[in-house]
Amino acid sequence: EQIEKGGYDHFMLKEIYEQPDAIRDTFRGRMLADQGLIKMAGIDDHIDKFINAKRILVVACGTSWHAGLVAEYVFEELARVPVEVEYASEFRYRNPVIDKDDVLIAISQSGETADTMAAIKLAKESGAFVFGVCNVVGSSISRESHAGAYTHAGPEIGVASTKAFTTQITVLTLIALQLAKKKGKISTSDFHTYLKELETIPEKVAEALTTNDLVEKIAAIYKESKNCLYLGRGFNFPVALEGALKLKEISYIHAEGYPAAEMKHGPIALIDDQMPVVVIATKKGHYEKVVSNIQEIKARSGKIIGIVTKGDVDVKNLADHVIEVPETIEFMTPLLTTIPLQLLSYHIAVLLDKNVDQPRNLAKSVTVE
Ligand code: AGP
Repeated sequence: EQIEKGGYDHFMLKEIYEQPDAIRDTFRGRMLADQGLIKMAGIDDHIDKFINAKRILVVACGTSWHAGLVAEYVFEELARVPVEVEYASEFRYRNPVIDKDDVLIAISQSGETADTMAAIKLAKESGAFVFGVCNVVGSSISRESHAGAYTHAGPEIGVASTKAFTTQITVLTLIALQLAKKKGKISTSDFHTYLKELETIPEKVAEALTTNDLVEKIAAIYKESKNCLYLGRGFNFPVALEGALKLKEISYIHAEGYPAAEMKHGPIALIDDQMPVVVIATKKGHYEKVVSNIQEIKARSGKIIGIVTKGDVDVKNLADHVIEVPETIEFMTPLLTTIPLQLLSYHIAVLLDKNVDQPRNLAKSVTVE
């Protein structure tokens, strides 16, 4: 097992550090940035289904559901198609309206999640086209889908999903870009710019990973906290949910993710000097509004950990700590802002001496209802 961990103390840390390569593997052979091309058989062979879809339904659970939420924002922004994201467990039991012209995207690292499988069966019965985004090759969901795209993240052993999440977002971004181009919703020059930028993401993830030592110090300060709030807006709202899930799963600290602007509708009541609040406040993503949320937290003595764009000044002046990530195009920021949140949960769990790779009560793949 020590050999399999490749010199890392835990699989989770190894998998966090594998993300630059995993993302590169996800777009290898699919994205030809120099030629301004995306080639993905799973999409290209069925592009009419996507183009004619009145809406795209996304079903998934847990972290994969968070990747689906990011995809909702990216698909709607780029391809201008309505997207609905559902927990597979709700979808399967609520008699949903499914049209034969709908495309259903099922996202699953393991490809074995029972609720997601059941949602696929339901969609197929209604005649919808089912597209699987899985990591495990040959898994049940990949076989049950009409078509699909693998994430190519490599084996993910840690129960807390890390590289599966960022590679799911990468695949879904490629699909959104291809669809946007085929539908004529983005210009050729924007398409090229986006591909070129996506190509730099692995390096930028590697740069985000250099925050590790700083994140470990911050983890040491907040490890005894009983609660933690995560806030983000737009593309980074799902990242806030994912950051909170990671902390809950492996450190057993209660955490909640919220859209930053919803804070005033309830969670603000929780803020006092004992409450760490992780705020994703990258440039462009409603930055000024998030800065004013940070001011509200500060006024109530909350402890602010800001995830900011490199060179940020405003949040630095207000927050107790800032963790910088490189600048990128707004819809790609989740691939970077996720990194320090993964590291934060990892270090808190290690400092609390928890079983990072196999947290209590959790299984890597949930094959029961
Ligand atoms: C993630 O850290 C979790 N362990 C869990 O939420 C997981 O994402 C969920 O069970 C879905 O699994 P899947 O992607 O294999 O379908």
